Amino acid sequence: MEKVTVKLNQTSHTYNIKIGNNLLKASGDWARMCLSQKTKKIAVVSNRKVFGLYGEAVKKSFEKSGFESHVFLMKDGEKYKNFHTLEEAVKFFTEKKLTRTDTVVALGGGVVGDLAGFASAVFLRGISFLQIPTTLLAMIDSSVGGKTGVNTKFGKNLMGAFHQPNGVLIDVETLQTLPRRELTAGFCEAIKQGAIADKKLFNQTAEFLENYSPNRFKNYFKDEKFLSELGKLIAAQVAFKAKIVMQDEKENTERVDSKSRKILNFGHTLAHALEKVTDYKRFKHGEAVGYGILFAAELSKRLDILDENELNLLENVVGRAGALPENCDINSREVLEAFAFDKKSINDSLQWILLESIGKPLIYKNKNIPQTFLETTLKEFLRK
Ligand code: NAD
Ligand code: GLY
Repeated sequence: MEKVTVKLNQTSHTYNIKIGNNLLKASGDWARMCLSQKTKKIAVVSNRKVFGLYGEAVKKSFEKSGFESHVFLMKDGEKYKNFHTLEEAVKFFTEKKLTRTDTVVALGGGVVGDLAGFASAVFLRGISFLQIPTTLLAMIDSSVGGKTGVNTKFGKNLMGAFHQPNGVLIDVETLQTLPRRELTAGFCEAIKQGAIADKKLFNQTAEFLENYSPNRFKNYFKDEKFLSELGKLIAAQVAFKAKIVMQDEKENTERVDSKSRKILNFGHTLAHALEKVTDYKRFKHGEAVGYGILFAAELSKRLDILDENELNLLENVVGRAGALPENCDINSREVLEAFAFDKKSINDSLQWILLESIGKPLIYKNKNIPQTFLETTLKEFLRK
C-alpha cells in the first residue's frame, strides 16, 4: 500500500491518499479514520454502472463500520454533470436528513467526483467529502486537489468551488473493468503530468506503457508485479499532483512560474478547443489532451524552445497510450476561434503552457506568438 499526504498551507487542511489493491472491502474502516467521530450518515454518489460493479462492497463495508449509508445514483455521462443533477443530489441529502457532521462519498470517475464534490461544497455551506475514484484520470488527477464543479449552458466547468476532500481511496483493481478508451484518456493525462514534472516520472510512465499496453490491460491483473508497478505509478503521479496543489491550492492568477498550478493545463488549450468544435462528442477529455500536449510541444519546437528529440520522444510515448480519434477533418479556423474562449485566459490574454524540455514547462503569452505562425503550425498539425 502506498500513501501520499496533502498538506495545504492556506487552510492547514490535511488529508491522505491511499493507493493499493483490494482496498474497497475495508473502505468503512478507512472512512472512520478520515472523518470526525460525529459522522453518522454517508451519502454515496455514484452511477448505475460503477455502483453495479463496486457499490455493494463499499456500502457493506461502511455499514460494518457503523455508518448509516444512502446511495444517490446519477445518470452516467458528462452531460449529467449539471445543475439539475446537483439539485437532485441536494434534494436527496435533505430527504435523508444529512447534517453538517455527515459526509458525501464519490464513487466513480471524474464526472461523479466533480458533481459530488460540488454538492458537498454547497450543501449546508459545506460538509465533508471523500473520494473513491474508479477511472485512471480520476485517480491521478481529478480526485486530488479539490477542484469541484458542474457544466452550465454557458460553458464547461463554469460553476464550481475549491473543496478539498477528507481522504482519497484508490483501489487500482477497479481499473480492471475500465474500457480501453478511458485507459488511453487517463494515460494521456499521466504522460502530460510526467512531461511537466521531471524525467523520472516521465520515464516511469513511458516504461510502464512499454511493458503494459492499454489494449491488453485486463489480462495483466493476475500478475503481482503488474499490480505493484501500477500502484507505484499511480502513487508517483498523485504525489506530483499533490506537490503542485500544496503550494498553489487555488491556482493564483498572478503566478507565471513553472511550479504554478497553471502548468497542469499543459495541452489543455488545444484539448478544450478540439472538444468544443466537435460538440464534446468525439473525444474523451484525456484523448483531446493527448493531441493537446503534442501540439504544445510542436509549437515549442517551432519557437526553438524545445529540442526535436524531446518532441519525438513525446510523440512516441503518446502513441503507446493507444489510438486517438481522427482529427484531420477538423477546421483549423474554428479551432483558432475556440482558443479565444479559453477559460484559463487572464485579462483576455491566453497563456500557453509550453515545454523547454521534459520536466521544464514554461508559461508563454499568446501575444508573443505571431498569429500567422500559430495558424500555420495548427493547420500542419491537424493535417499530420
Ligand atoms: P467519467 O467520470 O465520465 O468516467 C468515464 C466512464 O467510465 C463513465 O462511463 C463511467 O461510468 C465509467 N467508469 C468509471 N469507472 C469505471 C470502472 N472502474 N469500470 C468501468 N467503467 C467505469 O470520466 P473521467 O475521465 O473519469 O472524468 C472526466 C471528468 O473529470 C470531466 O468532467 C472533467 O471535467 C473532470 N476533471 C476534473 C478535474 C478536477 O481537477 N476536478 C481534473 C480533470 C478532469
Ligand atoms: N486538473 C487541473 C487541476 O487540478 O488544476
